[in-house]
Amino acid sequence: MSDWKVNLYRPRLGPAEADAVAAVLRSGWLSNGPVTREFEEAFARAAGTGDAVAVSNGTAALHLAFLALGLGPGDEVVLPSLSFVSAAAVVTLCGATPVFADVTGPTDLCVDPVDVAARITPRTRAIVAMHYGGEAADLPALAALARTHGVALVEDAAHAPATRSAHGALGTVGDIGCYSFFATKNLATGEGGMAVARDPELLGRIRRLRSHSLTVSAQDRHRGGPSLYDVDSFGLNYRPTELGSAIGLAQLADLPERQRRRQEIVARYRRGLAGTPGLGLPYHDRPVELAAHHLFAVLLPGGTARGLVQEALRAAGVQSGVHYPPTHLFTAYRSRFGCREGDLPVTEDVMERQLSLPLHVDMTDDDTDLVIHALRDAVSQTAGVDA
Ligand SMILES: Cc1ncc(COP(=O)(O)O)c(C=O)c1O
Repeated sequence: MSDWKVNLYRPRLGPAEADAVAAVLRSGWLSNGPVTREFEEAFARAAGTGDAVAVSNGTAALHLAFLALGLGPGDEVVLPSLSFVSAAAVVTLCGATPVFADVTGPTDLCVDPVDVAARITPRTRAIVAMHYGGEAADLPALAALARTHGVALVEDAAHAPATRSAHGALGTVGDIGCYSFFATKNLATGEGGMAVARDPELLGRIRRLRSHSLTVSAQDRHRGGPSLYDVDSFGLNYRPTELGSAIGLAQLADLPERQRRRQEIVARYRRGLAGTPGLGLPYHDRPVELAAHHLFAVLLPGGTARGLVQEALRAAGVQSGVHYPPTHLFTAYRSRFGCREGDLPVTEDVMERQLSLPLHVDMTDDDTDLVIHALRDAVSQTAGVDA
């Protein structure tokens, strides 16, 4: 697939996934069906909640969450700018306004509850907690804020499927939790996602909206149910495929082992990079067991030319990435909502310096050491070179 010695991500796809997909092909049922239902039940159990709704991707899960909450024009949602653009985009597409809040600081890249509190207005309808790289946001503080102001807490748990944290299973603490199974994620079906909700009525709404809000599903019709159906609200087609659900089920069975391997790699990174002059290691003092470790983020020393560090890593065969360009500084958000540089000083500072290192379950210890040495060398070579 590429010439990198160490890829930033790589999904592990083996015989279990291949057999599961082959079984679906033999079954003749390709879209949302019995395998998807089995995946939903197994995911809910693994995530520590009662039920779940599988969807076509993580963005769909977020869109359905806001539609189910009845978000619309005049409403505001407070959310981090330091995230993938999905949540802000679907808030906007619902006709509501994303209100960006800053992150906590260089050791915690999740949204800062103090800044969230300062941005709540009478128009606020929801707060989004994004668990950056699979590390828990401050759920107790965000849930308390949501309760005090009578607004919903939506967890963007795209990076954290079935993940224990100090505050409970990620995605299940807020009102709604949304997960992504994109090709690079810890559980990777190619395209896929899942929604969970504390209130079964809310989850039922998400389930109906996923398939045009039809009152009789295709499966029910296939089983001999009524051919005619009604439509009781305005829904979409965000159904998953049985092929993706089969891959998801196979990976879910192996997820604890995969998470354990991620923990080992992160522990090795932390040991190997500790003491690199000026290098920031967000979350380095949190227990390694209480996170999903989707990303391994470092913060380069202030003033370092990130492009040069990436070039040096590239020369050593190491792929790296940036997560994420701040949403509030994208052209669309500047022009629609008047966002500007300086709006979110902590986000802007850390995002100048952030770099993601390779992290996937098939990395060997030698791969990890190669990355550690390449980064240490790159940082010392570029120190003092103008950014
Ligand atoms: C934080 C975050 N939220 C939402 C999403 C959207 O998920 P998807 O790509 O499955 O639509 C992603 C991943 O791409 C993500 O990283």
